[in-house]
Amino acid sequence: MAFKSKDPNSRSKIRNARSCSWESSESTGFSDRVGEIPFHGRLDVFYSSMSQEKPTFIDLFAGIGGFHEAFHDLNAQCVMACERDKHARLTYQAFHRGKVLEPQRFFSECTDDADGFWMFPTDITKVTKTLGKADKLSEEQKQDSVEHIKRRTQKFNVLCAGFPCQPFSHAGKRLGFDDSRGTLFYDVAMMLKACEPGGFFLENVRGLIRHRFDEDIPVLLNGQKVEGVGMTLGCILNILFSKNPEVGLGYYYPEVDKDDARYVAPGVFLVKASDHSLPQHRPRIFIIGFKSAAAAKRFKMPKTKRPSDKSLAKKLDVKNVYMDALGKKHRTIGFTLRCGGKQSPIVSRQNWDSYYVAEEEGGEIEPKRIEWKHGLKLQGFKSRKLPSGVKLAQGMKQLGNSVAVPAIKAWGKEMLLAMGFEIPEP
Ligand SMILES: C[S@@+](CC[C@H](N)C(=O)[O-])C[C@H]1O[C@@H](n2cnc3c(N)ncnc32)[C@H](O)[C@@H]1O
Repeated sequence: MAFKSKDPNSRSKIRNARSCSWESSESTGFSDRVGEIPFHGRLDVFYSSMSQEKPTFIDLFAGIGGFHEAFHDLNAQCVMACERDKHARLTYQAFHRGKVLEPQRFFSECTDDADGFWMFPTDITKVTKTLGKADKLSEEQKQDSVEHIKRRTQKFNVLCAGFPCQPFSHAGKRLGFDDSRGTLFYDVAMMLKACEPGGFFLENVRGLIRHRFDEDIPVLLNGQKVEGVGMTLGCILNILFSKNPEVGLGYYYPEVDKDDARYVAPGVFLVKASDHSLPQHRPRIFIIGFKSAAAAKRFKMPKTKRPSDKSLAKKLDVKNVYMDALGKKHRTIGFTLRCGGKQSPIVSRQNWDSYYVAEEEGGEIEPKRIEWKHGLKLQGFKSRKLPSGVKLAQGMKQLGNSVAVPAIKAWGKEMLLAMGFEIPEP
């Protein structure tokens, strides 16, 4: 695999879709269902209380665990989470302790001499043993990586990953795969190659759709033109969905209505938090795929549910939220909670953490900076205290980085149903 955006030959490479190739290993024929899945790790450390009926998932680039929160609510069990940032790890543990397997192994490291399965490793590139060079591995190194992953990773049904978005975000420098963080997608691909889960659920910013877009360079997937997407997403789609084993992993994308406004490209959907009753815009892309064609056929896009007009005010614990200091118009959908940075003045369109509100009906209109508890509600997390050891600014940044939980839950539910799991009523 030799994808380099600065490569002068990249046009022809993209055209024949080999610049981002990924050879898939022979299918092992594993079913989507956990009950039929053998373990390729050490059985002696397998957590005995794990229910065979529950779907299992891993949470990569876990942040504070928005995926974990959503999938846990769907009766799924996390078997590994991976997060590098020290403070996000503190929050993750405070939020999910006891929900991840084997709390005593919660801090496991990903060295070769470690005992048992990885539970909460830090750097994904140590899990994959690619050391940040997953896009430049030789065949031998790839095989070594696959063996390394298999030795210490339990079988699981769904791979969840909100891989770092900075290289693709509108706010960032849009460096894409020129930026080493962009190559972390290849570590996700390596995990899929080694573990062959029944499905994956990836999340990223909207900017990824047209990153490195060039209307003269068609993006092809399995011989079909994919309209409106840039080369970076085209490369990602080929690695995930190409049926050519020299190019991709051969996953199936959901067969859905292409006229739905959320449909972007095969397997790619643009979903707003406000589609799932949260009063926040937060447009994000979801990339979903299945190992089995039948699951891909069964998948249905979830119904949308708009937030009520008063939902934002309720989440901010005030009577009314306004568009400006004059209070002419109510604000019903809030700003997209962003990843920290300097707080901008309240009049700025970039503002993300302050609103004009009236605490009481007819009361004075004043700016109000949102607090931790409001940020939690705007992202759809259950109410929790800011964990000790985490400063408010760090906590707010973590919330801004996180996924909108109800949106993940709605789409994750449809994934699990398509994979044949039953989801008990809450
Ligand atoms: C966009 S955030 C994901 C947030 C997460 N989905 C959530 O719900 O909170 C990306 C995360 O990837 C982490 N990260 C970046 N590089 C990493 C690496 N090499 N290994 C593990 N985690 C990494 C960052 O610390 C950050 O928390």
